[in-house]
Amino acid sequence: MGKFYIETYGCQMNVYDSHILRSILKEMGWEEVNNEREADLIILNTCSVREHAEKRVMGRIWMVGRFRNKKLGIVGCMAQRLKERLLEIPHVLFVAGPDEYKKIPELIEKGGLADSLGYELYREIFPEQRGVSAFIAISRGCNNFCSYCIVPYVRGRERSRPPEDIIEEVKRLVDMGVKEITLLGQNVNSYRYGSVNFPGILAGVAEVPGVERVSFLTSHPKDFSRELVDVMASVDKVVKYLHLPLQSASNRVLRDMKRKYTFEEYMEKIELVREKIPELTLTTDLLVGFPTETEEDFQKTIDAVKKIEFDQSYMFRFSPREGTLGSMYPDPISEEEKLRRLSELIRVQNEITGRKPLKEIGKKKRVLICDRAKKGGMLGRDETGKLVVVDGGKIGEVVDVVIEKVSGWTPLGRVIEKQKHTAGRISQG
Ligand code: SAM
Ligand code: SF4
Ligand code: F3S
Repeated sequence: MGKFYIETYGCQMNVYDSHILRSILKEMGWEEVNNEREADLIILNTCSVREHAEKRVMGRIWMVGRFRNKKLGIVGCMAQRLKERLLEIPHVLFVAGPDEYKKIPELIEKGGLADSLGYELYREIFPEQRGVSAFIAISRGCNNFCSYCIVPYVRGRERSRPPEDIIEEVKRLVDMGVKEITLLGQNVNSYRYGSVNFPGILAGVAEVPGVERVSFLTSHPKDFSRELVDVMASVDKVVKYLHLPLQSASNRVLRDMKRKYTFEEYMEKIELVREKIPELTLTTDLLVGFPTETEEDFQKTIDAVKKIEFDQSYMFRFSPREGTLGSMYPDPISEEEKLRRLSELIRVQNEITGRKPLKEIGKKKRVLICDRAKKGGMLGRDETGKLVVVDGGKIGEVVDVVIEKVSGWTPLGRVIEKQKHTAGRISQG
């Protein structure tokens, strides 16, 4: 067939979808290469979440245009949003949204747009993944329609995969050497299939022999339940890591964002989870400069960040997305002011993030080695999902380490003992 190259933008769901695309192309006889020059077919798997993400892809589309005799396909969320407009670009051969990848063989041959196939689960496609860690999408789409967000428009309605498909995929990945699974969904904790809810599938995946660790992304605060906290606390193989997007600490802004929780409800949930799992790593998403955010609202977010002390935050300034409710509000906040708020927030969070690793010194940790570290040693993750650079161990091994120092934001650990398949918690004695 020839050689293909995939470039992925956006979130983990797109990373996973690129594995689906690889499986489809390899099944057809295409061979993967890791650079565009050698490729006969280039696929850009795109993101639409902010204007900046789309601008980057537009730049790449024009750059790729300098190659003659290469096929170019645009897929993913931006492809879904802009369909015909992208196909008008002379060197773009085909455009396919996230639910249209089964049409790829036909599109490579004939070009154009895929006829809509409805909402997909890709049940019969096994996305092959190599290495120690792998993603599994357990649900696709989103029903929440937060007023700033394009995702429900480009990814469609939320649907959950049957538990037996998920467990089958986990088993196949374990057979290929995977030890750490991350369950994915735009709103992962609202998973439900028949009588199986999210805590149920999480515990089920942790029970598959050979799975050392399970984590999940991204949870919505409104669906974060007591039952989930119990499973996180009681099942050793569930990583003690929670990414719980807050967005804003002002109840008025949360209401305008249509987030469906108050700041007080959010606090109650994180107090409960921290009480049950004191060692928890907690991260969040924060969005500043929403059109109705006043300086007072913004300061509430700053105060919340200081109070909660997230281990890390992913911080963004509002980018209006065509067709969303958020883009229809008059937007009195200048770009300059949005940037000012964002830089202040980043400064406050970075100060907290920089301080935290120092508290790790002297602690014992159980680390799953995932890769080689760039500056020497091995790279792993502890039981709370934190990155640790370790002075020994092999990829896929679980080692007990003691943290001796910190370099930048990264704890450095010395191996004290190697384990076999026991990635659970160690007692801090
Ligand atoms: N499903 C996740 C949730 O409920 O929070 C988030 C998915 S979204 C892809 C990731 C983050 O991007 C959001 O949490 C939000 O902070 C940010 N985001 C989404 N739309 C945005 C917009 N229009 N402008 C700026 N940031 C945005
Ligand atoms: Fe977007 Fe909200 Fe859905 Fe997250 S929950 S993907 S922010 S609409
Ligand atoms: Fe992800 Fe971007 Fe789509 S964040 S779901 S790739 S819009």
